[in-house]
Amino acid sequence: MKSSAALYSLLAILPALINAQSPVWGQCGGIGWSGSTSCVSGSVCTELNDYYSQCIPSSAAPPASTSQAPSPSSTPPTTSAPGTSSAPSSTPTSGPTADNPWTGYQVYLSPYYANEVKAGAAAISDATLAAKAASVANIPTFTWFDTINKTGDLGTYLADAQSIQQSTGQKQLVQIVVYDLPDRDCAAKASNGEFSIADNGQANYENYIDQLVAQITKYPDVRVVAVIEPDSLANLVTNLNVQKCANAQTTYLACVNYALKQLSAAGVYSYMDAGHAGWLGWPANLTPAAQLFAQVYKNAGSSPFIKGLATNVANYNALSAASPDPITQGNPNYDEIHYINALGPVLAQQGFPATFIVDQGRSGQQNLRQQWGDWCNIKGAGYGTRPTTNTGSSLIDSIVWVKPGGECDGTSNSSSPRYDSTCSLSDADQPAPEAGTWFQEYFQTLVSKANPPL
Ligand SMILES: *[C@@H]1O[C@H](CO)[C@@H](O)[C@H](O)[C@H]1NC(C)=O
Ligand SMILES: *[C@@H]1O[C@H](CO)[C@@H](O)[C@H](O)[C@H]1NC(C)=O
Repeated sequence: MKSSAALYSLLAILPALINAQSPVWGQCGGIGWSGSTSCVSGSVCTELNDYYSQCIPSSAAPPASTSQAPSPSSTPPTTSAPGTSSAPSSTPTSGPTADNPWTGYQVYLSPYYANEVKAGAAAISDATLAAKAASVANIPTFTWFDTINKTGDLGTYLADAQSIQQSTGQKQLVQIVVYDLPDRDCAAKASNGEFSIADNGQANYENYIDQLVAQITKYPDVRVVAVIEPDSLANLVTNLNVQKCANAQTTYLACVNYALKQLSAAGVYSYMDAGHAGWLGWPANLTPAAQLFAQVYKNAGSSPFIKGLATNVANYNALSAASPDPITQGNPNYDEIHYINALGPVLAQQGFPATFIVDQGRSGQQNLRQQWGDWCNIKGAGYGTRPTTNTGSSLIDSIVWVKPGGECDGTSNSSSPRYDSTCSLSDADQPAPEAGTWFQEYFQTLVSKANPPL
């Protein structure tokens, strides 16, 4: 396993200096920086690289010392599944970076998730809880395109978004998840896909991408942002010891390359899925991950439409944890902001000036899991921070809800062909239906445990 010394030497904590103070998560130094080099009380100016120092809350500041790499996860995936869903209105304010795709756009609320939520809310007898549940229909999530069948729906949403745009004058942004790789979910079972590498998988996948692009190019005035293939590249970083992942490596890379090139040519902003803090955030995994993502970016032509990476998709980690969850023991990157602050500079060194989006859809409650790698319908989870471009970090374009909360991660039925034993662990809510289908009891918990409250 690789040493993390080089990385951590970049994270030496600088003393806070001078007068006018930068806010928490604000920039406080770096080559070319002429603003304040001191931080507000409770945060510490921390050098992330020569070009960027940031005010990190004292309680969250990364350790200055080199720390050894604890058992990096060859842990599983995180994901799940799809369904479709989608989302509405968030009003992006000016984003943290000048080229933030959300800036000036309203996020389109597609009817699919809104309908699931409305039906779920209608099934709740407690009037107060039902009203809270119904309000989730107005919160934007991503729509998962997990089968080629669903690609036609994208045209419906884009047409709808375009007509909203024309009638209101408010520019619309549609959020999608591209999720149909052949031999998908190579290290787990719950989200097995429709295509197989052995059976014309790559050509089928290219056709799937072509179908999406054919819809997108019909509506050039509507902006599209895509999360690319949850878990796929992360599995290539840590799970090549799993036969199915090793077999899939070449095809995954070819397919993701095709997706990025075609989507970029169509003006879609892409964020490749990068697992989460408890997966690629282990110090030993950071550099191999950055090398892989930078290579994929370059192989796809280094398009400015390849904006960066998506983290915590369908997972439960906090963006900024009040204190480390005991299950994160040993990982200095115990939440998503630590992970992003650690990975961003390494990506930049590798030639990929990536920014991030972070899924907080089910991160409202913390310290719920037995193991950090547990990902299936975690008991007691609540909806988390609402989507916003007010992220507090110049590395993060938007906090988003990628996983449509209420859609199941995987079934607990051990007779199902897509059964994954992770969905029967003691911290998994049971009985659980098939991945992607509505899980009413889980939805009700997400609503009642929402933090901030609904
Ligand atoms: C496509 O959709 C139809 C009906 O919705 C379904 O019966 C069929 O199994 C789907 N095909 C695939 C490959 O998922
Ligand atoms: C579990 O899965 C099997 C096989 O698909 C199915 O026949 C059975 O009805 C399922 N049980 C439940 C409770 O859903």
